[in-house]
Amino acid sequence: MIDAPPVIAIDGPSASGKGAISRRVADVLGFHLLDSGALYRIAGLMASREGLDLENGADVAKLLSELDILFESDGGAETIIRVNGVDVTTDVRRESTGELASRVAAQPEVRSALIGFQRSFRKAPGLVADGRDMGAVIFPDAQAKLFLTASPEERARRRHKQLKEKGISVNLAALSAEIAERDYRDRTRSVSPLRPAPDAEELDTTPLNIEQVVSRVLAFVEKKMPGLII
Ligand code: DC
Repeated sequence: MIDAPPVIAIDGPSASGKGAISRRVADVLGFHLLDSGALYRIAGLMASREGLDLENGADVAKLLSELDILFESDGGAETIIRVNGVDVTTDVRRESTGELASRVAAQPEVRSALIGFQRSFRKAPGLVADGRDMGAVIFPDAQAKLFLTASPEERARRRHKQLKEKGISVNLAALSAEIAERDYRDRTRSVSPLRPAPDAEELDTTPLNIEQVVSRVLAFVEKKMPGLII
């Protein structure tokens, strides 16, 4: 039997830095990257544009089956997201879209509809999968599973900084409340709630900068897959 390409699962709550860390780790290893949150964001965004009831999982899942989703590199650090040929990158990244995503992500039909698509990203030489349930549900046989956390205050601060850099001004207290609400919904939903896989390594990133987190993640990957990093 040919071994399936290796997967590094990086899960954790919103604004824990997973996105930036996953991209850096994928770049260092030359691995593919799956931003699974973007898929739930696309589902929420398109369902809302179509005027669907976001709590109607069957309707949202049907809509998903009609979408042609494409992730393309812009040649630099960004990924362009196209849905049925249209660039939706900016809309997908909005805070308001995160909220729509969290609502559709609680629907079992929507989660099932995305399983096969997410697994199709597992290709040689390997994959870094960023999300909430990468290690627990989508890639239970992942060779390395990490669960990144940070205090709610630190996560609000990071998201605030990230949005400010994009020229989007938001109130820190409001952002903090929004993050807490999204966490609560993600943790308490009945299907695939946000929690570490039993065999995941938890890493509290509160006192660490991106470079420090990336080196800890790479050290853990090297421990799990000796010789992968040259
Ligand atoms: O990581 P993100 O902010 O782009 O995720 C947006 C929402 O999607 C988040 O509130 C929870 C949901 N999500 C999920 O349920 N499962 C995943 N694997 C990824 C994201």
